[in-house]
Amino acid sequence: MPKPPACPDKVNVLLIGGGGREHALGWKIKKSGRLGKLWIDAAKHGGLAPLGECCPTTTSGPFHEKSNNLFQLRGWCDENDIHLVVVGPEVPLADGIHDALATDTRLVFGPSADGARLEADKAFAKQLMRSANVPTADARMFTIPEDALEYVRTKEEPCVIKAAGLAAGKGVMICSTLAEAEDAIARVMVDREFGDSGDTLLIEEMLSGPEVSILALTDGNSCWILDPAQDHKRVGEGDTGPNTGGMGAYCPASVLDEDQMATVERDILVPILDALKREGIVYRGVLYAGLMLTKAGPKVLEFNCRFGDPECQPLLARLKGDIIKILWDTAAGNLAHTSIEFDERPACCVVMCSEGYPGAYEKGKTIQGIDTAQQLGTGDEQVIVFHAGTKHEGGEIVTSGGRVLGVTALAKDLDRARALANEACTTIHFEGSFFRSDIGAKASSEG
Ligand code: AMP
Ligand code: GLY
Repeated sequence: MPKPPACPDKVNVLLIGGGGREHALGWKIKKSGRLGKLWIDAAKHGGLAPLGECCPTTTSGPFHEKSNNLFQLRGWCDENDIHLVVVGPEVPLADGIHDALATDTRLVFGPSADGARLEADKAFAKQLMRSANVPTADARMFTIPEDALEYVRTKEEPCVIKAAGLAAGKGVMICSTLAEAEDAIARVMVDREFGDSGDTLLIEEMLSGPEVSILALTDGNSCWILDPAQDHKRVGEGDTGPNTGGMGAYCPASVLDEDQMATVERDILVPILDALKREGIVYRGVLYAGLMLTKAGPKVLEFNCRFGDPECQPLLARLKGDIIKILWDTAAGNLAHTSIEFDERPACCVVMCSEGYPGAYEKGKTIQGIDTAQQLGTGDEQVIVFHAGTKHEGGEIVTSGGRVLGVTALAKDLDRARALANEACTTIHFEGSFFRSDIGAKASSEG
């Protein structure tokens, strides 16, 4: 085996993606003493644009959708001496950005397209979990709608119906009644609401219990489990209303004790990495396991091939040390010689949203008060406002998405971090804004 390339003293980085997760990555990358030049691909993004120069190849549209654009991007990376490409979202990974851009001297943080299937193809992930004996919900897979309908009609219990492909978090339907299950099958396979992502459909047993996200960095051999974070998926206070991309997260989440963490590593992460290896896949990047803590132990709901959003924001707010070295060593296959440490202070990230989210919402609302919010953190406390759906327009920062800001606070304990993040949210204004004030409440002393 050739020796993994050592992290250079100066690294030119291209950061792909334009949401809160990528702003957190860019914010941390910018603090690294090893940063040469930072390039981004999200033109005018409120948080990222001030951090780096925009890569021209990508400004005209979603380059990663076409192999032609990836080919052009490869040429651009060569010309601009890019050493490390950090990929935030799953779509470019599933489209093969790693395979298109990685060379002996240019590393890509994030798995190759075959590794990204762990997220992009739930049927593949389920089969891999079965082959590795990883605990997960029982499931049947279907490619013909009549077969799926026949199956649900023979079942009494509620079930969960999932489009197998990527669906921006929208392809999972919890069905308590037969009518709901029939409707879900029609949406996925007949109406093709999720396009090709619904070619295969999974019908899963419904599990119950608290959920937790376990994110690990892996270079295909070694695996470094990061402090657990907990997301809040429902839009309303007290976990009510429809699912969203995530309304807030805190870290570390004390949902799992040390023994349970060891079980997750032994029974879930290590076996799945071994199974990937058996498939001939070298998986380098984030391995994210979405778990449900059932009475029978932790079970996998899904794997993701990238950092969670918003989990990434409180996680990186607490990450100590040089992120470029950490990302490089992961991508290079050198994780065994890297050490990762976190700030002892907990972090709480509260997402401020546009009125109407996760349904339809208006864009272009002027945002005020971000600087004031960030000044609330003094002494041992810190407030960082990560931009998710914002952009620079006419000298102002305006809303451009459903999830607008990830208002993140670090403090001596979770109660204080929660209070500070909530206070910071009240100093920020845009028309129709709303947020959940109970992020982390169950885990804090108020819960
Ligand atoms: P996924 O994208 O597969 O993580 O699913 C999104 C959300 O749907 C999860 O965070 C859970 O809240 C819920 N979910 C997914 N699969 C199941 C299941 N088998 N049982 C109960 N809830 C589930
Ligand atoms: N926060 C959930 C996700 O990133 O998939």
